[in-house]
Amino acid sequence: MKNKFHVPLLLLALACTHTVNAGETAAEDIPKYVVEDGKVDKATFNGYRRYHGTCHACHGQDAMGGSFAPALTESLKTVDYDTFVKTVMEGRQATASGGAVSAMPAFANDPNITKHLDDIYRYLAARSDGELGAGRPPKLPKPKK
Ligand code: HEC
Repeated sequence: MKNKFHVPLLLLALACTHTVNAGETAAEDIPKYVVEDGKVDKATFNGYRRYHGTCHACHGQDAMGGSFAPALTESLKTVDYDTFVKTVMEGRQATASGGAVSAMPAFANDPNITKHLDDIYRYLAARSDGELGAGRPPKLPKPKK
């Protein structure tokens, strides 16, 4: 008789820890970039490097778009963080019409991307917000201790 109550209580406890809707990252947990006088923090710089290691092949130099894929500087004005992560992890079939076969590959099995996805997001958000120009950004000096 006693054991009967354990499962519902556990579920209730779990439900209570979820203060945000499923799949929605709380605003304070969304990765932030630092840009000062055109200089970026380490994480955003890493995002720049990782983006230009893989994504640029389709999404273009400086995220400005290519013949294969949309400009992510534009996309990130409407695509939120959770959708961004989901799209990169799972990929997406082409939605654009016109007969061209183009799709967003899934990167869930690529640690070169999954480990650095937040940094890539930081870089793209900075570009999309107009805070960071094109080209290789200089790094901010390391914070002094
Ligand atoms: C092989 C080419 C290719 C590569 C490499 C690629 N993408 Fe894509 N990506 C696409 C295409 C094509 C689409 C548009 C799919 C569609 O029509 O909906 C897309 C769509 C997206 C979208 C959604 C854009 C929107 O406006 O909804 C995001 C975000 C994205 N890609 C991020 C990335 C990131 C980050 C990387 C690097 C880790 C990357 N992509 C690498 C081809 C690529």
